[in-house]
Order: sequence, then C-alpha cells, then structure tokens
Amino acid sequence: MSQALKGRLTVPGDKSVSHRALILGAMAEGRTVIENLADGEDVRSTWRCLQGLGVDIKSSADGRVTVKGSGWRGLKTPKIDLDAGNSGTTMRLMMGVIAGNPVLATLDGDDSLRRRPMARVAEPLKRMGATIDLKAGKTAPVSIRGAALKGIDFVSPVASAQVKSAVLLAGLLATGETSVTEPVLSRDHTERILPVFGGRCTREGLKVTVRGVLNLAGARLTVPGDASSAAFWVVAATIAPGSELTLSGVGVNPTRAGFLEVLRRMGAKVEVSPLKSEGEPTADLLVRPAALRAVEVVEAEVPALIDEIPILALAASQAEGTSRFRGLGELRHKESDRLVAVANLLNTLGGTASIECDDLLVTGRRGLKGAKLSAGGDHRLAMTAMIAGLITEGPVTVSDASCARISYPHFMSDLKRVCAR
Ligand code: S3P
Repeated sequence: MSQALKGRLTVPGDKSVSHRALILGAMAEGRTVIENLADGEDVRSTWRCLQGLGVDIKSSADGRVTVKGSGWRGLKTPKIDLDAGNSGTTMRLMMGVIAGNPVLATLDGDDSLRRRPMARVAEPLKRMGATIDLKAGKTAPVSIRGAALKGIDFVSPVASAQVKSAVLLAGLLATGETSVTEPVLSRDHTERILPVFGGRCTREGLKVTVRGVLNLAGARLTVPGDASSAAFWVVAATIAPGSELTLSGVGVNPTRAGFLEVLRRMGAKVEVSPLKSEGEPTADLLVRPAALRAVEVVEAEVPALIDEIPILALAASQAEGTSRFRGLGELRHKESDRLVAVANLLNTLGGTASIECDDLLVTGRRGLKGAKLSAGGDHRLAMTAMIAGLITEGPVTVSDASCARISYPHFMSDLKRVCAR
C-alpha cells in the first residue's frame, strides 16, 4: 500500500550554487557571508580543498558560513593532496581555480571520482598555460602547476557546466578574454553568481565571455533550496495517492529546473508560487497527486535535468505508455554509469526499462514490487529507490542508503516527517 506525503519541507541549500559561493568567496578580497550553504558531503569537499589551499572558512552557530577571501592569486601550495571525495564539481571547478594560482597541487577523490573523465577540463586549462598531469592522460589523481594564464576561445564538445565553469574561473585569473561556447546551454549558476561578487560576464547565444584579470569583492548571499533535492519530493507527492506537499524556497533557475516542465507535460500538478526573480529565482512548490502520461524528452532538454533522470524515470514507470529520454550519454560519466544503473533499478523493482544506444525507455506500469538492493554508492539512485519504496508492494531496502548524505544528509528524517503513516 502506498504512503501519502503531507506537510511542508525545506530542502537543503543548492549544491551547485554552494560550491560556487565558497570558491568565489575564496577568490575575492574580503569577507563573504553565506546563508543556507548546502550541508552535504560534496560541498564539504570543496570547503576542505579550499582550506588546504590556505583559505579561512568558518561556520557560526546560526548556520552562516564566513569565507575570508585570499584575493587575486592568493592561494597557497597545500601540504598534502586535496581530497575531492565523491564530488566531480569540486574536482573540476578547483582545477580551474588552481590553474590560475601560483601553486602546485594534487587533487584526488574516491573510487567513483577516479573513474570520471578529467581531460575535458585539463585540455582547455593546458591551452591557457597550466601544467596538468592526469592518470593515463584521463583521470584523477590530477596534478596541477598553476601559471600566469592567457585567455582562450574554447568550444566545448559537451554541454557541461563543470567544464564551462572551470574554464571561466580560470579566465577570471587570466589576461585578456576567455570564452566558452557550449553545444546546448548548461546550468548557468557561475554566470549568475559572478555579479554578486562584483564580476561580470557577457553572453551571446551559447557563447559566454569573461574578462581577466578581475578583482572580486567579498559578498553576502543566500543559497536557494536545491532543485535536484526538491525533485525527489515533487515526484513522490505526484505518484503517492493522497499527498499534498509544499516545498519552500526552491531554486527554479530554468537552466536547472527542467524536470518541472517535463513533469508538467506528463500531467503533474505542481503549483509554482514565485518568491524572487532576480539572480537565482526561487519559488514555493505545492504538489498534489496526478495521473501521469508518457513523455518524450529530447537531447537538448537533458542538460537542464541531467541529475533528475533517475527520479523522472521512476515517474515514467507510473505513467500510461512508454516514455523515451533521448541522448543520455553524459549519464554514463556520473557518480555511477547512471544510465545502466537507473534501468537496472527499475527492472529490479519489477518495472520495464531498457536502453537503446544512449536513450532510456521506460514503460509505465502501476504495481512495482519491493526488493533489497544496492545503489552502488550513487546518492541519487539511493534516494530514487527510497521514494519508490513509498509505492511498492512490499518494502524496498537500500543497503547503502546512507550515501544520500553526499547531497542530502537529512533525507531519511525528512522522509519520515512527511510520511502520513
Ligand atoms: C554540476 C553540473 C552537472 C551536474 C552536477 C553538478 C555543476 O555536471 O551533473 O551534479 O554544479 O556544475 P556536468 O556539468 O558535468 O554535466
């Protein structure tokens, strides 16, 4: 029997915005005060790496985080290797920052991160003047000797905000202009946060340009609620009959919250009440259950919902008809091979999912069954499985459910709080 979700939740601060707030605070002159910084392990990894480079970061009892900026090229060579943990954003964005500072540093991570492609960031940074060594020319550990960089005009083969942001951050420290052109617009949090620190970038279509050498100034900012964390609850309250759930202060930046548009096409009932429209827009979301229909998601939509494929696939398993998510090749390079992992998860729960080239097909069928499974250490898979457990016949047991702490440490307590039973 399914469990209804009732009440109101405030999801953690946005993970992507939090990484950028810490990093730009560290690159700025003076003090930065951040409210609602994400409390997951990934953002802790960025915090730890910056501390290793000599940046003073402190949290106060009221939850605010203060960064004492090192200023222009003010980072110091770390005494030990920097540990990015499970966080691709930490490793890739820090590569960009280190490349433009007079330091020698090695970035490493856990087994999952050591499998992920780093050459996509190293190549443009090398063209700017940094010296970078990767394992077998491809993966972490990453050794970087920073340099006085020069700007480049980089055409990225992938729509990746991590690649774009690494090059733009290095561009702030380089002489002249640095441009990044993407095949499709990826999340634009770096572009939106720059003016908060007195920086500037210009955009012409898919090309974004920063001009170095730039002195940033410390700032005060509040991080919006994480859209990716909210997506779990939006789908949960949509598929669990009898639910009525409000999510407060969620970031709804259109380059990020593409899942809302896809769910709307599927027939979901989400009332969006805007709270703030400048910078990072936020809204309250009120979600009620709905009968869903299958959807087709095209490749150009994927960057704006790249992290939401697992939970959207669960929604598709409850929809009438066969959904197709096109062009998910980038999912193979996430914390796990998420394309294979998400298909396996749904099939393990008695659903019908298959992969054709880089497309995911999910045929909707009511009645999923319980199972004992592992998320392979992938936080988004673990949370998707636990949401599935709200509607399965029999319990879902996730052996490594605690990996949710990577992005959402209080996921289980929030789940208990809004479960009517
Ligand atoms: C992120 C960008 C995305 C996303 C990741 C966070 C960011 O990765 O999957 O969770 O903060 O820039 P890619 O840019 O590599 O697609």
